[in-house]
Amino acid sequence: SEDRHTELRPPAPPRGQPRSRNSSVNGRISADDFEFGRVLGEGSYSTVMLARHKSTGREYAIKVLDKGHLKRNNKLATALAEKNTLVRLGAEHPGIVHLYWTFQDEWSLFFVLDLARNGELQSRIFRLGSLSTECTRYYTAQIIDALDYMHSKGVIHRDLKPENLLLDDNYRLKLTDFGTGKVLNSEVDRAKTWVGTAQYISPELLEVSESSKASDIWALGCILYQMIAGRFAFHGLSEYLTWQKIKQLDYSFPDGFDEQAKDLVQKLLVRDPTQRLGAGLPGSPNDMQALRSHPFFTGIDWKALWSTPAPPLE
Ligand code: ADE
Repeated sequence: SEDRHTELRPPAPPRGQPRSRNSSVNGRISADDFEFGRVLGEGSYSTVMLARHKSTGREYAIKVLDKGHLKRNNKLATALAEKNTLVRLGAEHPGIVHLYWTFQDEWSLFFVLDLARNGELQSRIFRLGSLSTECTRYYTAQIIDALDYMHSKGVIHRDLKPENLLLDDNYRLKLTDFGTGKVLNSEVDRAKTWVGTAQYISPELLEVSESSKASDIWALGCILYQMIAGRFAFHGLSEYLTWQKIKQLDYSFPDGFDEQAKDLVQKLLVRDPTQRLGAGLPGSPNDMQALRSHPFFTGIDWKALWSTPAPPLE
């Protein structure tokens, strides 16, 4: 219900002071309902913490955003946008981190999220150097399935990267960090500002500051390249030099790069956003269905994607 996401309660007493033993006196969820554990991740405006819901024993990841810091940096709207995006995405897709509740106290905003216990895909790629073709196929398929769902709900992520791809208990993928997400009002809508991370920014974002579903598809191409090659597709010594490479489509494949993956990357990293595989309108030759049908995905059972066991991470 709408109400779950608009929880508001009186300021909590400072830490260390006794709090009400029964935090549900006002019928609303609050920080008192959780036992906070270790820090799972830190962003510029937020800290994600492990938290156990006391009455059910269930574990969650709680994103804590500092209100003062958000205000001082004019980021309150960003936090609100993230919440609205997550609410819009709902709980229907297994590949997207679900928002259970939000609440706040005097100092912080709290987002109670799905816990992805096995951390970021980024650190796996880092530790392993690169991923096997089998793993890459599996995770790329899961990203595509989650993107397809997200885009069908009119949401673009705009900062898709391996740090925002988390692994759950079963080593299945969960997309997170919708702080840069954008809700489109219609199919033709474009978002006019750019946000994101240098290595995954598409040429149209650099040149005309326009993002669309196709910009997420570009990022997918960069991630697929990175999983197999173990390095960025576009990487310069500075952000400026990285952007030059992106605009010139200046990248190359290392020896031994899987041929079908290579073909797919070449169909994703296309300068014209409308020509990227998966970016076309449904029914067009480069729609999501065409992307799913690419030979790289031979053997992927799209219908059982979220129930087939993950291949060993290697
Ligand atoms: N780090 C950031 N978000 C997380 C989440 N939802 N689960 C686990 N670790 C995280």
